[in-house]
Amino acid sequence: MPLVIAMDGPSGSGKSSASKGVARALGLRYLDTGAMYRAMTWWMLRAGVPVEDAGAVAARALEPAIECGTDPDTPTITVGGEDVSGPIRTREVTNAVSAVSSVPAVRTRLVELQREIIGLGGIVVEGRDIGTVVAPDAAVKVFLTASEEARAARRTLELAADPGVSAQVTQAEQARRDRIDSTRKASPLTKAADAQEIDSTELGLDEVIEAVVRLAKERE
Ligand code: DC
Repeated sequence: MPLVIAMDGPSGSGKSSASKGVARALGLRYLDTGAMYRAMTWWMLRAGVPVEDAGAVAARALEPAIECGTDPDTPTITVGGEDVSGPIRTREVTNAVSAVSSVPAVRTRLVELQREIIGLGGIVVEGRDIGTVVAPDAAVKVFLTASEEARAARRTLELAADPGVSAQVTQAEQARRDRIDSTRKASPLTKAADAQEIDSTELGLDEVIEAVVRLAKERE
């Protein structure tokens, strides 16, 4: 059976860098499911759908044609053939993504797409519900955490690119997103009972990657 590694955890836990690193180290593909929820959100905003209206979002959830490239060195994401890798990281999309991703019709659609991609072979998949919902049979399940301070510091670094916004505002927006992501009814962020928790607060990126690679080798 092709190896599937589920990497779940809150934002700022270092999931993306670790997931790409693990995929490279093991010669696996890589899928960023958060990018898919962002792409759906970007499309809704551009289509003028009121994103706080769950019914309106659900009614259009089947429309955007979202495609992901799974090379960990050059992951790509397109909607209707248009490269959206930049636009999905804007503050506008970031602040709307929790509302869109809490709509069950959105999740059903994207989980189906994610399972199709996962079914094509070995892969590292990062998200919030991979070990619990998307790939409950994954051979390796990791729940990556970090202290609130470490996560805040990473986010501030990531968002330094947006000089118009203070670190305080960024952190308040992030705290709001975390709260919605972990308390929503549909597939909230939770650790799978059989996931291995890795706390990255005191670990360097290479150490996190090594720890996950070790877990994968133990399963062989
Ligand atoms: O990982 P990220 O910050 O790019 O994810 C963006 C949003 O998408 C996040 O606020 C929650 C949502 N998400 C989700 O609901 N389920 C996933 N598997 C991945 C992301």
